[in-house]
Amino acid sequence: MKALVLAGGAGSRLRPITHTSAKQLVPVANKPVLFYGLEAIRDAGIREVGIVVGDTAPEIRRAVGDGSAFGLDVTYLPQDAPRGLAHAVLIAREYLGDDDFVMYLGDNFVVGGIDGLVERFRAERPQAQIMLTKVSDPRAFGVAELDGDGRVVALEEKPEFPKSDLALVGVYLFSPAVHAAVAELKPSRRNELEITDAIQWLIDAGHRVDSTVISGYWKDTGNVTDMLEVNRLVLEGVEPRVEGEVDAVSELIGRVVVEPGARVAGSRVVGPAIIGAGSVVRESYIGPFTSIDEDCAVIDSEIEYSIVLRGASIDGVGRIECSLIGREAEVTPAPRVPKAHRLVLGDHSKVQINK
Ligand code: DAU
Repeated sequence: MKALVLAGGAGSRLRPITHTSAKQLVPVANKPVLFYGLEAIRDAGIREVGIVVGDTAPEIRRAVGDGSAFGLDVTYLPQDAPRGLAHAVLIAREYLGDDDFVMYLGDNFVVGGIDGLVERFRAERPQAQIMLTKVSDPRAFGVAELDGDGRVVALEEKPEFPKSDLALVGVYLFSPAVHAAVAELKPSRRNELEITDAIQWLIDAGHRVDSTVISGYWKDTGNVTDMLEVNRLVLEGVEPRVEGEVDAVSELIGRVVVEPGARVAGSRVVGPAIIGAGSVVRESYIGPFTSIDEDCAVIDSEIEYSIVLRGASIDGVGRIECSLIGREAEVTPAPRVPKAHRLVLGDHSKVQINK
């Protein structure tokens, strides 16, 4: 069995964090979301991985390399434009050969990995196996309609009037039967070759398509509340380790990771929390469910339930909660007079000010 990982597509235009152009590299607990997918694939016993890349290919290649760091053998499959998930299967035809494969969307996060699903597929041998999850707004997803026995009868991509609240999760298992389906597809309303249509084609042709309903799923939609929540979930599972420097007056409580080259001085860190490599935390309080990325500075401040991305600095500003601070952002106190907020905000920023 091989894996086909989709890490192409357009950049993350709609995210609040405009610097990260490859949405698959958005960090969760200081690690790109794509890496969790690659690890899940490896843990399911798969070694050969084709990664579909588009405009952001250089960024993805820089991050993943030849895959050996993950115990994987990675082949890059360039896609000229984001022409759809089924188009990615089409261009991977030669790479995939006649193997079964798991197709994994690089911006999806499945809590608990995919071992069980891969095992089930191997044992049951359907032509395709999909994963579904309950969502509050199914209109943003592919939506499945099940019959009374829980069998998939119909799938619809981003329906205006969804027939259920069961969304397709971006992890699919396919036998080579999918290639005949993909070869028949016509572009959809949004001018893409839809994998949803390919699966519907399999159902209509009488092939067996199994489904499993899962919980513990996240995808990058640019929603900060969801991002903080998935960050919390992952931090809850981290193993504490201190590889950086922590001075004698600092206190680390619970699951705290201090990465190499990070320095914690005169501070209190209550886990689960992670302080990235090269970051400095001085005279500060870092509260639970906080990820501080590499090369950040948190000085004379308090921060909790937040994500701070690479190179950001927070200095002398009191308490911050439930926040996402972008790369190289600076948060500092304003001069006493005039009594005003001074803001330089990027596109799509959101600020809540305590008057
Ligand atoms: O995330 C789950 C959803 O993913 C499913 O519920 C939908 O049925 C499915 O169509 C897909 O919808 P999205 O509109 O969210 O897919 P998106 O365009 O965001 O692409 C998903 C990933 O695949 C993303 O990492 C980019 C990559 N991609 C996308 C396209 C269209 C490619 O590599 N090539 C492409 O041509």
